[in-house]
Amino acid sequence: MIDCPGSANPVARFPNQAMIRLFTAIEIPDEVRDTLLDLQSGLPGATWSPYENLHLTLRFIGEVPEPMTDEIEEALWSIRAPGFLLRLKGVGKFGGEGQRAPARLVYAGVEHDDGLTRLQAKIERALQGIGLEPERRKYHPHVTLARLKDTPIGRLGEYLAEHAMFSTLRFEVAEFALFSSTLGREHSVYDALSSFALTPAV
Ligand code: 2AM
Repeated sequence: MIDCPGSANPVARFPNQAMIRLFTAIEIPDEVRDTLLDLQSGLPGATWSPYENLHLTLRFIGEVPEPMTDEIEEALWSIRAPGFLLRLKGVGKFGGEGQRAPARLVYAGVEHDDGLTRLQAKIERALQGIGLEPERRKYHPHVTLARLKDTPIGRLGEYLAEHAMFSTLRFEVAEFALFSSTLGREHSVYDALSSFALTPAV
């Protein structure tokens, strides 16, 4: 194996290695996830996320050579950030703007919180620091409730209106985790590989 630690492309440092699909996320306490179940019905064409898959992604990393996981964990361990309180609020959709692309997903929204924004930015910096490509898309915190296929636009509008006032209790975020994702036919399987403590909330 040719090892070139200074390579601009960290993936190129691990030729011929198995790939692993990774992302960082916040796990949602059961009592909050329980309230999300109330949102998971009444929408034709929805494939609802299984309970164990309900999470808040911080940074999707994507496919990397498996041995890079250690490096990613080290970068994440170096992060110092305070914990914070978070509330899930409202519902929304991705896709379905204009006539071109149909809506593809419905989600529970997240109330704005500076602690979340700062943590997300620190993770982004830490991952860029080990040579990963920057995330070009703006961070849009959300908890995916369902993927959609052929959902009638009228029914989707009704669903979003019906749940517009959805809101959970505020819950404490004291850590985040690195997950692997294995693509499945209907649902991906997510496994927490390691977790990273935040400093006590101020
Ligand atoms: P989503 O639920 O909105 O699709 C694992 O796939 C997690 O990473 C999911 O929460 C997923 O968000 C998120 N993610 C972000 N960007 C992604 C991408 N390009 N491909 C797959 N998952 C992505």
